[in-house]
Amino acid sequence: MKVTVETPATVANLGCGFDCFGLALPVYNTITLEETIMPGSGIEINILDNDSDNIPRDKNNIVYKAIELLYNYIGQTPAELKINIKTGIPVARGMGSSASVIVGGLIAANELLGHPADNDVLLSIATEIEGHPDNVTPAFFGGMTIAEVEDTGSVTYRKLPWPKNWKITMCIPDFELATDISRSVLPDNVPMKDAIYNLRRSAMFVEAVYTQDEDLMKLAMTDRLHQPYRMKLVPGLNSIMEGLKHTEGVLGCTLAGAGPSIAIISNGKNIDEINEIVETNWNNINVNSIIHTYTIEDKGARKI
Ligand code: HSE
Repeated sequence: MKVTVETPATVANLGCGFDCFGLALPVYNTITLEETIMPGSGIEINILDNDSDNIPRDKNNIVYKAIELLYNYIGQTPAELKINIKTGIPVARGMGSSASVIVGGLIAANELLGHPADNDVLLSIATEIEGHPDNVTPAFFGGMTIAEVEDTGSVTYRKLPWPKNWKITMCIPDFELATDISRSVLPDNVPMKDAIYNLRRSAMFVEAVYTQDEDLMKLAMTDRLHQPYRMKLVPGLNSIMEGLKHTEGVLGCTLAGAGPSIAIISNGKNIDEINEIVETNWNNINVNSIIHTYTIEDKGARKI
């Protein structure tokens, strides 16, 4: 039996919602799982369309680790399995490529095993492997999501009604930034006033989405919990944010997840000027980039 699952890219945090908010984009990774017929053939992992040496092809691969946890959940261990990973999502750019393959692998393995786990179990395994729920949740369910994790590992999430005309411009630089490096610069503790700042803004953010309130969104998309510390890892981020502060149509400009990509939320009316501001700022410091504007992906992971 062979199962293929396509899973979208995601942008986590969206400014104030560190480790909580995320949304899905119409860019995909595809995972194909195949039970190999030959006994003793073991685990084979192929990464198609990506020759990066940084992606493990053995049992250290995160897709394998996620699948192994699902097998363990039903008291088994994967024995003979071929895993093909086709990567359409740029790696180490803050677009949730790891969350995408974790979720895709779990859904495909669950299908192969005859659906022993429900979505709650799969989401909690995905969160355990990823370490936070903000990418895996929208990768799984699509749209814009808010998610939290209990001490038991169980994840509660809700999908918010993202306004159809709010666009996401992804500015992807030509350098990588690993999430663990980007998390290593964060402090263990933050000042109370900064925690309050983000708490207030994340409440405003949710209200802005529900009421499609652009002015409120402009106020809500700022952050003091992670971006100030990560600024030094992404050359040009500060000047791009400053350059877009008063640009018509821009509702917010944030680091995409742990970076280094930048995500700009807008009402879609001024995309050319947004692109030009980003390009000019990055060109000035010799950073090449790909810039693309998307509408949100609302369906999430699916079998194809
Ligand atoms: N919330 C996570 C972070 C997303 O900012 O580190 C990383 O994928």
